[in-house]
Amino acid sequence: MIETNITKMFGLKYPIFSAPMGPFFTRNLALATSEAGGLGVLSNVNIVGTNPVEEHKASMEYMIEHTDKPFGLNILTSRNNVGVKEMVRKLPQIVMKNPKMREQCKYWLTSAGSSNLLPSSKYFKELRENSDIKHFHVAPAVWLAQKCIASGVDGIVVTGTEGGGHQSYERVSTLVLLQQINNAFPDLPKIACGGFATGEGLAAALSLGAGAIAMGSRFIASKQSEFHESYKALIPPGKPQDTGLFTGAFGPIRLYRNKYAEAHPAPSTKEAMMAYEASISPEQRVKDLGAYDRVYNGDTDTGAVLLGQSIGIIDKIEDVSDIIERIMKDAEAAIRNNNSMLK
Ligand SMILES: Cc1cc2nc3c(=O)[nH]c(=O)nc-3n(C[C@H](O)[C@H](O)[C@H](O)COP(=O)(O)O)c2cc1C
Repeated sequence: MIETNITKMFGLKYPIFSAPMGPFFTRNLALATSEAGGLGVLSNVNIVGTNPVEEHKASMEYMIEHTDKPFGLNILTSRNNVGVKEMVRKLPQIVMKNPKMREQCKYWLTSAGSSNLLPSSKYFKELRENSDIKHFHVAPAVWLAQKCIASGVDGIVVTGTEGGGHQSYERVSTLVLLQQINNAFPDLPKIACGGFATGEGLAAALSLGAGAIAMGSRFIASKQSEFHESYKALIPPGKPQDTGLFTGAFGPIRLYRNKYAEAHPAPSTKEAMMAYEASISPEQRVKDLGAYDRVYNGDTDTGAVLLGQSIGIIDKIEDVSDIIERIMKDAEAAIRNNNSMLK
């Protein structure tokens, strides 16, 4: 049994979160994670033809119908995210009106943009005053953690450069970032993210001041995740070096190296990214976004395959509850082993 500030904050059996993985659906994955004792997170879905507000609403309805456990949702607050203003305005109102949603949808995670957008919505303020929900934001650097604190967050997700999918220009490893942020803000609740897939990794994160871990790639390789079988199949034989940083819709992105990735080299700075965005035609932008639809439908060659270096420590596609139970068992053994070194 491991109890942390995060398990207490959300009433969880285990300090394990599923990471958001937009633009794809993670409804079944979130449900399986919450049911297994962790906390499942609904992704900001906006693959072509979807309405992000309606998708979040439908997913939350699905969650409260199938579980009584807590769960969360992600909003990408990037200025390039279609429908972001609508989400920030409408989602708190939808949750406010539904007592079961208000009780269970406790974890509001924003990322890839301003940490201030959601807390400055009057509807979110009202929801916060009338519920037990918590707002976390993803921080890939100390100065960004400072901005999150200024926005009044309840905690942060500390995500290092080895993580899959959306990345920052900072490129700091999770190991260094966690130590930096823990030294700077020891009392701030922290979820460690990027590169986690094992119990030993969880034990290390807890030693470095985190109260939980969030995992993306590990959970893609699960029976319950909605990802295509050909996407999942890349993971067990995958090596950390099979991934790299490339250009994504909201900045740098960690992808599996394939034809699509190699055609989109990573920008080195925010300015370079903005210059790239200004240079591409609307046709090219639509074509690039099509890479997410293609991979969702199983094209892992010309689609954007978002994965982290942690694929090098994942060897099987398993049931979510087996993944979580094994990580917990191994983390407890690692902590006991560390303890036995104390003389
Ligand atoms: C397929 C995929 C999609 C992702 N989409 C999002 C997203 O929509 N929002 C976000 O904050 N992070 C996103 N990420 C990053 C994850 O939330 C998380 O930071 C990352 O998976 C952690 O690294 P790991 O894959 O080693 O566990 C995505 C990652 C993956 C693999």
